[in-house]
Amino acid sequence: MVYNTLAIVGAAWGDEGKGKFTDFYASNSDVVVRSQGGNNAGHTIVVNGKKIALRTLPSGVVDKSRNIVNVIAAGCVVNPVQMVSELRSVTEYRGGNVPTVYLSKYAHVITVFHKLMDSRVEDMRANKVMTTGNGIGPCYASKMFRVGLRIEDLSLDFRSICTKLKELVKVFGLNVTDDEIKAEAKELTSAYEFLIQNVKIIDESLYLTECIEQGMRVLFEGAQGALLDIDRGDYPFVTSSSPTAASIPQNCGIAPRYINEVCGIVKSYATRVGTGTFDTEINDEVAVYIRERGHEYGTVTGRPRRIGWLDLCAIEKAVRINGITHIVLTLLDVLTGLENIKIHYYDKELGKVVDKWFVGWHTDISGCKTYEELPFEARYYIEFIEKKLGVPIKYISVGPDREQTIEKPNSPKI
Ligand code: IMP
Repeated sequence: MVYNTLAIVGAAWGDEGKGKFTDFYASNSDVVVRSQGGNNAGHTIVVNGKKIALRTLPSGVVDKSRNIVNVIAAGCVVNPVQMVSELRSVTEYRGGNVPTVYLSKYAHVITVFHKLMDSRVEDMRANKVMTTGNGIGPCYASKMFRVGLRIEDLSLDFRSICTKLKELVKVFGLNVTDDEIKAEAKELTSAYEFLIQNVKIIDESLYLTECIEQGMRVLFEGAQGALLDIDRGDYPFVTSSSPTAASIPQNCGIAPRYINEVCGIVKSYATRVGTGTFDTEINDEVAVYIRERGHEYGTVTGRPRRIGWLDLCAIEKAVRINGITHIVLTLLDVLTGLENIKIHYYDKELGKVVDKWFVGWHTDISGCKTYEELPFEARYYIEFIEKKLGVPIKYISVGPDREQTIEKPNSPKI
């Protein structure tokens, strides 16, 4: 049986331009699901020249023309206060129309104490991870310690919430007063009051299973990137969830066989935020050129991203651990104007890792509508990537707007 499902994953360290394509595929979906991570994510979507930054809400919320259901699954960690403010601004963008959002009652709650713990742990480390500082890791940690609060716990009476928070800070070893506990419980309960009036709190396992079995089009949007995976990334310089297709069934409570197609988002060059291995990193004027043209500054933190050449050894790993079935190549226009472009890859015939230089192109490609319009050098670069990865490239992105997308001829139908 073939289901109408598609998973989108970042094939590197995040910031591959998933937002644009999630939005692109979302407009063709009935349901859009976030299955892991929290407000460490920052999806920038550009619709008709207007920029919208999403942190917690799935991308289906920006579509004003259709009533897409947006699901936040149990594998996510949610900061209720931040979610309320995001929901308010998205509602305003939609002209007062509240988007349809379903939130798992099992998702874990990020509190102010998790954020505090995030900076505390960073301060204690010799080797900083450079987290986004949103309390993501500590929230997953408290879930594993079994002292976390789930969304459904926010429906408890005030005293019970205070008791849970007290237990949490005790386990974390934080010095927090009773007044601080009460203040946080108040923040959380008032955010929850707003949420229950605007969001449906559900067991998403039942809902999603029904949707998929009925043949509805369900899109699972990834956050972060596969190479930041807690198990498969270069620990400890990773995030604290699994941004892979493999984690989706577990995080949403659905059967693994429901995931048919996995779209890997590959950026035409590489970036990384925070510490960690980055074999193709460059620090010269070419890095500055790419950073400025690609606006490579963190959506959440504003930090300049580290820049490097495309590393197909890393992308091959993402293809393997996600079972990527097709690729979307993003930000190709950023490379325009470079004399030479490098790709780092494993050469099977030579049996070793090599660097290959490609001749660049100088004509503006941001207005190209068809594959044939792209300069020969750009097509050569694209086809080399496709051949080395052994996975078809379906779309090529040459600019932030939805219209700046080229479908590669003879690519598979999705
Ligand atoms: P955390 O997820 O805030 O704990 O941060 C852990 C690491 O993951 C840091 O290096 C972050 O910069 C990185 N990270 C987390 N979320 C994203 C993202 O959405 N894009 C890129 N990097 C991210």
